[in-house]
Amino acid sequence: MKILVIGAGGLLGSALVEQGRSRGVIGATKNDGDIRDAAAVRALFLRTRPDCTILAAAYADVDGCERQPHLAIEVNFKGAAHVARAALESGSRLLYVSTDYVFDGAKNSPYEISDPPNPLSAYGRSKAAGEAAVLEILPQACIVRTARLFGTTGHCFPAAILELAATRAEISVVDDQIGSPTFHCDLAGALLHCAETRTAGVIHATNAGACSWFDFAKEILRASGMNKVSVRAISSGQSGRLAPRPKYSVLSNTSLRACGISLRSWQEALAAYLEERQAAQQPGQQHTQQHPQQPGAPDAVHPIAAGTAGRPR
Ligand SMILES: NC(=O)c1ccc[n+]([C@@H]2O[C@H](COP(=O)([O-])OP(=O)(O)OC[C@H]3O[C@@H](n4cnc5c(N)ncnc54)[C@H](OP(=O)(O)O)[C@@H]3O)[C@@H](O)[C@H]2O)c1
Repeated sequence: MKILVIGAGGLLGSALVEQGRSRGVIGATKNDGDIRDAAAVRALFLRTRPDCTILAAAYADVDGCERQPHLAIEVNFKGAAHVARAALESGSRLLYVSTDYVFDGAKNSPYEISDPPNPLSAYGRSKAAGEAAVLEILPQACIVRTARLFGTTGHCFPAAILELAATRAEISVVDDQIGSPTFHCDLAGALLHCAETRTAGVIHATNAGACSWFDFAKEILRASGMNKVSVRAISSGQSGRLAPRPKYSVLSNTSLRACGISLRSWQEALAAYLEERQAAQQPGQQHTQQHPQQPGAPDAVHPIAAGTAGRPR
């Protein structure tokens, strides 16, 4: 099976390409076809002729989307629609990667796939619109919502915490947003399984368990042996971030388990990430390439207060 990954240079896309190397995966970056350009997307499908496509490209900077809602719509909604139309025309199935930020966070139990989206931010609205457009064009498409991605091939929350901890005695982190951290490799494995088993419909896919960003930061430092750095809990209001985020956006993994997949706990996934990161930093080892931070960077470092900890990017 030939699987086209659009967004191959991103945090998730790079893990998909890496894991899919021997499974028929081919990667496409923005240079291969900007998804805002319908003709370029059609040409990409004509060149590659995939059986299945995973759309991992997005404008995923949550505060950036709030500042540039037009760009969020262009990429996350209209771009997704261009990809869905090209997939329909060329006979490719489609997986659209979406987000827990389509929910408003008013619940206090995990979000099921039957819960209606009610996004708070421009990013969430553009992704919810992308989901709807994809399902309208390709009713057999698969929408995979995930959350709080981290991984070794991009900038992410654990990397930001470790960079800050190297130079600071105290870091301030938001403690009133609860979600499920998700390792890009674990999600990539689940997505490839969904692609290969022709899964359709909405799926929620995260590592197991949930925590606040504050708890996540504490665990990152504990597991890295950096217990001397103190973590101060702050509220979302104190973080000074532009876009509103859901207070609680844990995704129920019932739909994922129904596909025969069960992802490990976020703590186990974090340990694997730290091991991989350390191996990449050993002298003489092959370093995993860190792609530079881009304007369309993921919502990886938002929970750190700009005032106290500085912005790592
Ligand atoms: N990161 C998270 O915490 C998180 C959480 C929940 C859901 N998600 C979702 O997971 C998916 C992957 O996110 P990620 O963290 O891997 O994002 P990422 O690291 O920012 O990667 C996104 C990729 O999309 C590409 N892209 C942006 N605009 C494009 C365009 N117009 N045409 C073609 N490619 C374009 C970017 O290429 P350039 O760099 O060249 O612009 C980048 O390589 C997204 O759908 C996101 O909404 C992410």
